[in-house]
This record gives sequence, structure tokens and C-alpha cells, in this order.
Amino acid sequence: MTSTQPKILLTGGAGYIGSHTALAVAEAGFEPIILDNFANSHPAVIERLKAIRPGTAFTLERGDVLDGEWLEGVMRRHALAGIVHFAGDKAVGESAANPLKYFHNNIGGAVSLLRVMERLQAEPANGNSPMPALVFSSSATVYGDPASSPVAENFPLSHASPYAHSKLVIEEMLAALRQANAAWRIGVLRYFNPVGAHPSGLIGEDPSGIPNNLMPFVAQVAVGKRERLSIFGNDYPTLDGTGVRDYIHVQDLARGHVAALSALLSGQAETRNFTVNLGTGVGCSVMDVLKAFEAASGRPIPYQFEARRAGDVAEYYANPALAKRLLGWEAQHTLQDMCADAWRWQNGNPNGYSVD
Ligand code: WQD
Repeated sequence: MTSTQPKILLTGGAGYIGSHTALAVAEAGFEPIILDNFANSHPAVIERLKAIRPGTAFTLERGDVLDGEWLEGVMRRHALAGIVHFAGDKAVGESAANPLKYFHNNIGGAVSLLRVMERLQAEPANGNSPMPALVFSSSATVYGDPASSPVAENFPLSHASPYAHSKLVIEEMLAALRQANAAWRIGVLRYFNPVGAHPSGLIGEDPSGIPNNLMPFVAQVAVGKRERLSIFGNDYPTLDGTGVRDYIHVQDLARGHVAALSALLSGQAETRNFTVNLGTGVGCSVMDVLKAFEAASGRPIPYQFEARRAGDVAEYYANPALAKRLLGWEAQHTLQDMCADAWRWQNGNPNGYSVD
């Protein structure tokens, strides 16, 4: 049965945020097309998505956005209403050790996608059909070390890692395209700290190796995969001395992408192009997360304080007012929801998507 629903291409759509967004996009009446090379995700995700939502095909296009010729074929195959660009690498520490990988995959991948979009739009056969609306997965790391919180979109931008630098360069490229050609409709979403999992427990965050990020590490301690949590610094100028961040449930984040797509497709002038924070506006410390996770899992989380981690900042959390005003979106899940859903995923899938 061929779907008549507007199609949305999700590059990196089998990844952590991509897979949750594919579900939300389907629930909103779009048809998700998942593009992924599984470099940092697992083929099992597609079957899990179908198990959660049997009526949706979750069509897979397996390949790399850097392959412009192949990507053009994908975009010709599917008359796309929109594109959400997740594909890329996202480990801050790795990017410092291997900057060229991040510049090539993240910036090169974005250039490849944008060139195909522009080429197809320029074809006479294209007539006057609009260019697909584009949503770009950016990051709050483009704010560097903000002087204060809550952080608003007009705060100074900087980068403290090649990963953040790659996101900043792509944002600047998108700004230049908007300036050059009114045909572009682009929504930039700056994520704060995505955590949690779909309430079914069938999809979630599946980091390879030792998790860099707090929540998956805590979850692995709770399930017995890691012995204890190292808390990087308890001498920060925060309430309990540990680092404060704006943790946002991945389900809220997914809804934010649907709100962004709907706004771009609405034809409203005010939401033809925008850049917004996706955060809760609430800061939580490492200790807050640890205690909430113990309550959600019923498991103790042993920990020890260690030296601060290079590059970490004491505290930052979002001012989410612009996303609420422009997109009518705000986060709804609490830290307790995030921990309960992350625990259900971890406890049900101790080895993530690998069945071994
Ligand atoms: C959160 C807090 C740590 C691990 C990163 C990326 C950012 C974004 C989200 C992509 C900090 C502390 C952590 C641990 C700890 N990703 N911590 N022990 O660094 O705020 O942001 O992930 O866009 O780009 O920079 O998140 O989860 O690594 O750290 O004490 O084992 O937890 O010091 O205070 P971060 P995080």
C-alpha cells in the first residue's frame, strides 16, 4: 500500500534521537524514511520501531550522506516534504582526538545534503514545487561556556571542541543559504542534554564502549554493568558542588522536531526560518540525577568524587521561551520520568541492541 502521507527523510534516523523522532513523525501523520549507514546505530532499531508502531513501514535507505550520487537517488525516489538532518558524529572527547573525522563527517555530510537539495530544486522539471523543509540537529555546545544561565539563542557563540565547531560551521552555512535564496526553509534546533527512552523500553540510548555521558553511565551502574560512577568534580560553584545541566527527555526532543517541521510547513512567514533552544529551562546537578535514578530503579548507585573533567563547565541550562513562542512547544517530562524510562530501557536491554 503506497502511503499518501507527506514524507520526511531522517538522516541518521536509526540513531538515538533519530529513532525517537521517526516515531514522533509517524504519530504526527507523516511518513518517516530512515537514512542510516549504521556507523553509530544498529539495524535492530528498525524492527523495534515496527514493533512499537506496526502500521508504519519505517522505510530504510541504507547508505552515507557523504555519497552525493546515492543521496540524490534517494531524494528522487521519495517526493520529500521535509528532511531532518541528524547524521554525524557527536562525541566531544573523540572530536578532540580526531578533529578531521568530525569536520569530514559532520560538515562534509551537511554540504553533501545541501548540494543535492539545491541541485534538485534548480532542475526545470522541478517546476515550482518547494524545496523540502530542513530541520538541523544542532547542540547547546555552540554556546561554549556561557557567562550565565538561562542561556538564550542570542547569547555569544563559540566552540570548545571540534564537535561544537562542526555544529557552529553548519549553522553558519545554513544562515548563508537563507540569505542567498528565499527558497530555503530551515529550522535549527539546539539540544541541551538529551536523556531517557521511549516508554515502551524497546528503543533507547545505546552508546558503544564506556559511556561518556552521565545518564547512560548511571544506568549501567544501576544494572550492574559498571562498578561505580566517577563524579567529575564536587567543587563547582553550584548548590551541591557538582555540575548542573538541562536534561531533556528524548520524547520531548522528538516532539520538538515535529513542532519544527509543522512550523516550517505551515507557510507562516515568522516560522520560515528559525533557531531555537530545546531544553526544559531547569538545571539539575549530577547528584540530583543520581538520586532520581536510585529512586526510579530501586538500585544503589555507588560513586566517588574525582577531579573535574577537562572542558566541563559548572552550570548551564536553557531559556526555552523562544521555542514556546514560535513553535508552541515546551518540555513536559520530569527528571523522574527521564530516569524511569532510561531504567526500563537499560534493565530490559542490558546489552543495548546487541543480543549477544
Ligand atoms: C553531564 C554532567 C559531567 C559523566 C555532552 C556534550 C554535548 C551533548 C550532551 C551532543 C557534567 C558529569 C558525566 C560521568 C560525571 N552532546 N559527569 N561523570 O558534557 O554536559 O554534554 O552531552 O550534543 O555536546 O558535550 O554531558 O552527560 O557528559 O555530563 O560526573 O561519568 O555529568 O561532569 O557535569 P555534557 P555529560
